[in-house]
Formats: sequence, structure tokens, C-alpha cells
Amino acid sequence: MTRKLFVTTALPYANAPFHLGHIMEYIQADIWVRHQRMSGHEVNFVCADDAHGAPIMIAAEKAGITPQEFVGQIAAGRQQYLDGFHVKFDNWHSTDGAENHALSQDIYRKLKAAGFITSKTIEQFYDPVKNMFLPDRYIKGECPKCGAKDQYGDSCEVCSAVYAPTEVKNPYSVLTGATPVMKSSEHFFFKLSDEKCVEFLRGWALQDNRLQSEVANKCKEWLEGEGGLGDWDISRDAPYFGIEIPDQPGKYFYVWLDAPVGYLASLKNYFNKTGRDFDAFMADPSTEQIHFIGKDITYFHTLFWPAMLKFSGYKIPDHVYAHGFVTVSGEKMSKSRGTGISPLRYLDIGMNPEWLRYYFAAKLNAKVEDLDMNPDDFVARVNSDLIGKYINIASRAAGFITKRFDGVITTKWATNDDAFIQNLRAVSGDIQALYEAREYGKALRAVMEQADLVNAYVDANKPWELAKQAENNDKLQEVCSRLLEAFRILTVFLKPVLPHLATQVEAQLNIAPLQWDSVQTAMPDQHRINPYVHLMQRVDPLIFDQLFDAPVEASKPTPEKTVASSTEIHPLPSPPPEGAGEVSGAIESLAPEIKIDDFAKVDLRIAKIVNCEHVDGSDKLLRLTLDVGEGKTRNVFSGIKSAYQPEQLIGKFTVMVANLAPRKMKFGMSEGMVLAASAADEKTNPGLYILEAWPGAEPGMRVR
Ligand code: 2FM
Ligand code: ZN
Repeated sequence: MTRKLFVTTALPYANAPFHLGHIMEYIQADIWVRHQRMSGHEVNFVCADDAHGAPIMIAAEKAGITPQEFVGQIAAGRQQYLDGFHVKFDNWHSTDGAENHALSQDIYRKLKAAGFITSKTIEQFYDPVKNMFLPDRYIKGECPKCGAKDQYGDSCEVCSAVYAPTEVKNPYSVLTGATPVMKSSEHFFFKLSDEKCVEFLRGWALQDNRLQSEVANKCKEWLEGEGGLGDWDISRDAPYFGIEIPDQPGKYFYVWLDAPVGYLASLKNYFNKTGRDFDAFMADPSTEQIHFIGKDITYFHTLFWPAMLKFSGYKIPDHVYAHGFVTVSGEKMSKSRGTGISPLRYLDIGMNPEWLRYYFAAKLNAKVEDLDMNPDDFVARVNSDLIGKYINIASRAAGFITKRFDGVITTKWATNDDAFIQNLRAVSGDIQALYEAREYGKALRAVMEQADLVNAYVDANKPWELAKQAENNDKLQEVCSRLLEAFRILTVFLKPVLPHLATQVEAQLNIAPLQWDSVQTAMPDQHRINPYVHLMQRVDPLIFDQLFDAPVEASKPTPEKTVASSTEIHPLPSPPPEGAGEVSGAIESLAPEIKIDDFAKVDLRIAKIVNCEHVDGSDKLLRLTLDVGEGKTRNVFSGIKSAYQPEQLIGKFTVMVANLAPRKMKFGMSEGMVLAASAADEKTNPGLYILEAWPGAEPGMRVR
């Protein structure tokens, strides 16, 4: 049966660009959505900017623009991230859109009519200069417990005490510095404490495997804890950037009331744009509503949100799936510690977005666990598993089919007892079930186990050996065809995670877009594939030095251009996988063909290594001082510490890329890059081999 799915990720506040945690959540949901689409299900996958609230209003005021303009500027920057990481929402909207105003007000009216809204007068701190009530975070003062100065109005960062803003000593407004005064005003509340509400939530949260077990347990605690649920304050007084409460001039919905309604608003906006019936879709009992969120906002999504929907007569969510936070090398990301990762920078420095998708997927499961991003682990998973086990299958087989058989494959292998391919087909159901259960790490482990079996077949049949003798031609075609069929099936398994790569493979194999049921139908006999182009490069571990660095401002040259350098060692392309007798099964495939003009852009020069030393704090780098015949030296950080002692290199002549843009690294400026060779498979040969010029070459000579 075709499922009808309405899937969302949490709506990000429109006050900052995305961070890596947002991207992780979008990738997690996007993989699930792509998996559903590959099964033929209907998915409506939407998101929106969470536009309202005091912080955005205040930030806009500081920037001298309206909140709408402020939110518009943030929204304009969203698509480059989504496209960059292949996250494909069907719609992106804003909680300040007309649909959200109408839906939020409708939900409120219905809750009110059903008796779930009450009001009472409360006292709060008020900034008499700014003429506004102050959220707790906008009040600072001395901690009532330890006396520490400049602590927030709700908790102390020095002694961790938690308290009410009224307990703070010598409070002041963060906005104006004024001493806040107590002022009363009428607030509106959603009656979460109503027995009907509690009873409903108990059923909703604890039944039907709706929530992950750890989230369900937390809900149980909230529902059954001392005092039970309190009523929820859903109103804020003007000035506030939000949606006005019907018939209550000057009162606005608290941002967390209208934010989740934004899920519905974005869907409605999408349906309106595409001429579909939103009300009919939401009224259909077979529609499934699923929210992917971070663990910090479960309270809102598992108590307020379902209760609001239930008692206003709207459809209730079927599942809420929470994930943990992203940490880097075991720590919370922090700009000042240099462990923050900007997603745009990741893309700007040329890191492949599908490496990150693969890495996140490999580490994700269905639990509410934090995900640690660790550079060494990242490199190992991408290079050893993704490239070493999967991509290499194609690079070993497709070249022979193109060059020896004019791109034509055979299905001579396809006898009924072909256990090798049968086995791959047999695990498809298990892998789909793992995607369904959001156990992506397990799914990818299962895929890599299959890739291991395929590689064992490569090693047992050695196409590069078969290629040496003409009489083995038939066997060579059969082995490579079978390998390409295996590769095609593995590509189906990986397609939810690697959609762009899968599209490239489809083009290369000259086949229709892969779906889950494509697993069972092999490419036909005499099918012609397109010429092989290398599909994915390995990660250079040194690229992480750039990822964690602050970007260099191009317009600000360093005062002296003397010590600039690069760390990168880019392995030179290895020989092609097929050639006159010197074919090997373990070399890296060639990069796509270039023209002589492309090569001419790279200015290679002979450089004399006049000095070389260790770099404090780096276990990978050596600092090279290079004479390139310019009358001054350049310093190059090079990731060859594992291969050379500094004194071995001093006095040697090598080759450097001399026209690479200077780049700021953790240890200083980069100005150039020296060349070194490395093997495709680090396990067989982890060495790095710097190039050395023959006697007679002099510093500054161009290498062409
Ligand atoms: O925590 C946040 O970033 C909120 N902007 C999430 C809102 S999710 C939904 F309710 F809109
Ligand atoms: Zn304190």
C-alpha cells in the first residue's frame, strides 16, 4: 500500500545561518524521505524559518531593519546549504507567512471554544526605558546563591544555581542597563493541567511505538512527576514580533505556540502552490505526520504540540523522532576552541557533501544519542569503506568493459544459481527495514559487509590478470559484468544516503533512476554502459586543517608575505587501471580528463628546501622553508611528518605548486603546496613520497 507521509524537520530560528547540527538533522530526515520515495510512497517534506520572538525582534532593531527584512535576509541564505548537502525539501516557508497567521489563530479560537484557554494576571520584570517586559534571558544581576556578578535571570553559570528572576540581586536590563520594575499584565494560558489533556497525552505518548523509548520514559516522568503538568503561558505583550491573539489587541502568541503550527502552514503553502487540497490530505486517516527534531525540544513536541492539535480538532502527530547533538572530537562545538565547523566552509574548501552524508549516516541510529564527528574516523570511514570498498568496485570493472568490450555487458553469469548476486538481492529487505527504523549505521554496515563479499570476488577473479591474456576475454567480460551488476545493487542500497553519486552511477551505467525494486531486475544482456569517469575522490586528511580555520579574508594580505605555505599533499594520479601489461587492481582511478590549458593553470616550480622543522602541536606537519628563486623564501606546512625527519629534507630540491592562493592555517599562513605521492590503499602502503628533482634543476624553474 502506498503511504501518504507528511514529514518535517524542526523549524530553525531565523536569526542565524545553519550550523552543523541543523545540517545533520536535515540529512537524517532527508535520508529517511529518500528511502520512502524509493519505495514509491508519497512524501511531503517541508520546513520553514521560525521567524517570531523577542530575540529576532531585538536583533532586527539593532541592525536597523524591520524584523520582516531581517528574517528575509536569513531566509535568502538557506538554499545554498540545502542544495550544497543535497537536502531536498518540497517546500521552505516562514512562520510569518499568511497561512501561519490564519492557522495559529484558528487553532487558538478552537482551543478557546473547547474551554482550554484561561487568563490570569501575572507580574513580571519590565524595562521602563525600553517599555517592554523582559524575558528572563534579558535580565542579569548577582546570583542570589553565590553572589557572582552578571548572571542571567534564570540561572548562574558560576555555581549552576537555578532561580526566579525576582530573586536576582541588583537586577538590570540587558537591553538598556535600566533597573527593571515589576509590572502586571494579563496573560493567556493553555490548560495543559486539564485532566482530559493529561489523559490524552498519556495515551498518545506511551502507545503505538510513537516515540523512542527514552523519549516516552521522559514524557512519563513529565506527566506523572510531582505536581503534574502546569498550564502553559502562550501570550506575550507588545512590543513583540509575532501573531496577534484574536480579539486581544496588544497581545501576541508566544513564539513556541505558532512555531510548530508553521509545519502545517508550510504544508498548506506547498499544497496551495501545487493546486492540492490541504484539508482533504490532513483529514485522510491514512496520512502519517512525522517530525524529526533535536532532543532539546522534545517537551514542546511531545506535550504542547499534540495537545494543541488534539483539542483544536486537528490531526495529531504519528511520530516524533528526536536525535542528539553533534560534537567534534568529543566536545561541544566551539568557535573559540577552533572546533566549530561551518557547513558553508566545508563546501567552500571543496569537501564533498556526500562524504558528510555518508559519515553522519554511518554514525546515526534510532536512539537519542549525540553524534561525534572525529576527523580521523571521518577519513577512515570515507576512504576505507566508501571509496575503498564501494567505489573501487566500479573503478576495477567499468574500465575493462569500456575499453575491451565497447561498453557492452553480458548476462552470461545470470544463471539461477548465481549465489553471489542472489545473496545481494536477498539482503535488500533487511537493509530497507534498517532505513525504515532510522538505523542508518546498521544499514551501512550491512552494505559494507556485502561490499566485502564483492571485493573478495574481485580478488578471487583478478580482472587485471584476466586482462593480460586475450583467451580470457569472455571470462573478463563475465567477471566485470557481474561486478557491475553487484555495484548497481550496492548503489541502490546507498542511494538514500548518496543521491548525487547514485545519479552519476545511473548516468554511467546508462540506466533509469534506481528504486528499491530495481534490486531484483538485472541490467539486460548486451546493455551498453557509458565510459567510466571516476566517481569520488578520497579525503585528504589535511583538509581538516582548513575546515577548522577561520576563513582568510582575501582583501587583507598579511603584512609580510614571507611565511605563507600549504599543508596539502595531493597524491598524483596513479596510472590508469587498464594499460599495456602494467595493470594493477589496487591503484587509484584517474581523475576526469583535462585539457592542456587546464594543466597550464597550475604553476609548478622547482623549490629548494632551505630549512625544515617540526611544528609545535601538530602530529602531521613539517614546516618547510622553500627557495623558489624569488629572492625571498616561502614556508610550506606539509603533512609528511610520518614519512621524514626534518634533517633528511634540508638541501633537497622538490616541486611545489607556486600559484596556489595563500591560505591561513592553524599554524600560520600557507603559500603553496609541495607535491608528494601516496598509494590508493593506505593500509597496504601508508607512505608519502615527496618528489625530488634531478641535479641541474634550479629554484624557480617551471615544471611543465
Ligand atoms: O529550537 C529551535 O530552533 C526552534 N526554532 C524549533 C522550532 S520547531 C517547531 F516547533 F517549529
Ligand atoms: Zn551563583
